[in-house]
Amino acid sequence: MIYLDNNSTTPVLPEVIEAMLPCFAESFGNPSSIHACGRRALAHMKEARQQVAALLDCEPAEVTFTSGGTEGDNLALKGMLNPGDHLIVSAIEHSAILAVCHWLEKQGCEITRVGVNAHGQVEPETIRAALRKNTRLISVMMANNETGVLQPVEEIGRIAAEADVWFHTDAVQAAGKVPISTKKIGCDLLTLSAHKIHGPQGVGALFLRQGTPLRPQLHGGHQERRRRPGTENVPAIVGLGAASRIAQAGLTDGSIERLGSLRDRLESAIASLVPETRVNGCGAPRVPNTSNILFEHTGGEALVLALDELGIAVSRGAACSAGAADPSSVLMAMGLSGEQSRSSLRISLGKQSTADEIEKAIAAISDCVGKLRQNSTICWSK
Ligand SMILES: Cc1ncc(COP(=O)(O)O)c(C=O)c1O
Repeated sequence: MIYLDNNSTTPVLPEVIEAMLPCFAESFGNPSSIHACGRRALAHMKEARQQVAALLDCEPAEVTFTSGGTEGDNLALKGMLNPGDHLIVSAIEHSAILAVCHWLEKQGCEITRVGVNAHGQVEPETIRAALRKNTRLISVMMANNETGVLQPVEEIGRIAAEADVWFHTDAVQAAGKVPISTKKIGCDLLTLSAHKIHGPQGVGALFLRQGTPLRPQLHGGHQERRRRPGTENVPAIVGLGAASRIAQAGLTDGSIERLGSLRDRLESAIASLVPETRVNGCGAPRVPNTSNILFEHTGGEALVLALDELGIAVSRGAACSAGAADPSSVLMAMGLSGEQSRSSLRISLGKQSTADEIEKAIAAISDCVGKLRQNSTICWSK
């Protein structure tokens, strides 16, 4: 199989599995227990917290472990807002934010969804213009999951600070692909998920700047400074720590540049081999692993299925909605028509991707698009 759907999830690296194994064996203890077995588990968790903090450029005490990106986003928004508060989000957030916005509206919060330009980027001044007296929080993602477009989070962070408003960013798709510094961004909360950085599924972290008044959403024990009670998932947390360490190393050892050049090769080859294509978001800075390509007059779902037949895994968009027939709200917000959005494909590379795989994918994509277009012409002419 050629797996090019790494924005949905990434394969767990062997080093990550290796790091997790002791937590199922000699270090199986409850990290809250004071005996040696518990202390061993606690020591593993402490190291993981330091590794996550190093990736995010923050203090270990500012890291709260969660069950993943969805929980982190839910905790950030629900934990910061009260009825009557105003929240500003971008229209291209993941459903882990947008669905919470729906819920918050029902609880009496006011929400402004700010649009994006044709390149898929939020314009910071639209955030400033949306500020109100009762604005309590701004939440704008760092990199979009469908297009990979990077958002101007540092500028938004400055606007939030000037207005004395809390700022959350969902960095799930940015982590491991670009450097993240919570200090430079100036965010108060930031969401991370392990399974997008070659760690295990079902674990993540929420960065919470010291002094940020978050209301926990679960009630129970004293774990995670009472911000997220419940016995910690130590093996998964250790996996997140190892994945964070490897992701951080990858930012300076040339692996990111390698991914970027594979992605660029894919895009330039497709542009020269397949007529009527366009890279969605190409006018903006993007993470180096993601390519979202519009193949005019080609059903994206049919293309995903045709490539799957050939053993190539790609997707039409976000994994949680890619199966749905609805067009992508992200691409529609960028001005694509419903038909163009349905004819777009997301190809996302991972650490395991090779040049040979990319060459095979280029050949398969150009072949499948040609055949699908030919079939649809035959259908139309019948
Ligand atoms: C930008 C973004 N935020 C949040 C999530 C949800 O993360 P998780 O799958 O860990 O719940 C995803 C997953 O696709 C994502 O891409």
